[in-house]
Amino acid sequence: MAKTTLHSLLEMKKTGEKFTCLTSYDATQAHMVSSQGTDIILVGDSLGMVVQGRDSTVPVTMADMVYHTRCVSRGNTDAMIMADIPFMACSTPEQTYDNAAALMQAGAEVIKLEGGRWLCDTVRGLSERGVPTCLHLGLTPQSVSMLGGYKVQGRGEEAANRMIEDARLLAEAGANILLLECVPTPLAREIARSVDVPVIGIGAGPDTDGQVLVVYDMLGMTHGRKPRFVKNFMAEAGSPAEAVAQYVTDVKSGTFPAPEHGFEA
Ligand code: KIV
Repeated sequence: MAKTTLHSLLEMKKTGEKFTCLTSYDATQAHMVSSQGTDIILVGDSLGMVVQGRDSTVPVTMADMVYHTRCVSRGNTDAMIMADIPFMACSTPEQTYDNAAALMQAGAEVIKLEGGRWLCDTVRGLSERGVPTCLHLGLTPQSVSMLGGYKVQGRGEEAANRMIEDARLLAEAGANILLLECVPTPLAREIARSVDVPVIGIGAGPDTDGQVLVVYDMLGMTHGRKPRFVKNFMAEAGSPAEAVAQYVTDVKSGTFPAPEHGFEA
């Protein structure tokens, strides 16, 4: 398989070919996920919950992210590696530049930040310095206390318009990818159509340019309540590698996500 690049993702958006992303936290997962054709590996700060057993992603540190990014980069074949900047590690542009450098030197090729228009200056500065970014909108788990729980975001005209405007401003500032989490299907569709950059969705319906899931969730290893947008691909697979291959096939063919995995406006 050819190496995923920003250029190849843009080509996929143009031609309408869907792309796939899965999280990984170690070398074995990264090898399994990338060798089955996944386009992007996300070293997500979800590792705080699924690896470390914490209640939220808030306790995750830069040291944790650097460690897991290094592990993933050793197992990866051709996927693009994207890594999260954790809670309060992008409070100023200067702090973000230092933390982005640490993640890139550990093997990340794209840096993911949670937040809206307040990050435009930081995104512009990173882009000028050669650091590609993915901006995570909608349900941003690092702000779970402020959001009052893990709830669908962008419902109602005002909230929807604000998210559309955030997406537009961040793309104009130089964001290379957007990620929408728990956003009503019609709103995610509108955002994906209104920006030129690739848009990844999780709980955002079938009309974004790509899809992402937490690898433990799609392998049927969800701890606690299974979110509505999760499908257990192990249910009909003989091995984890087969489950990942089925996920890739289903996203590319438009079979996943199905309507029941999304949210109404
Ligand atoms: O940290 C993570 O794994 C994420 C995904 C759920 C999108 O941000």
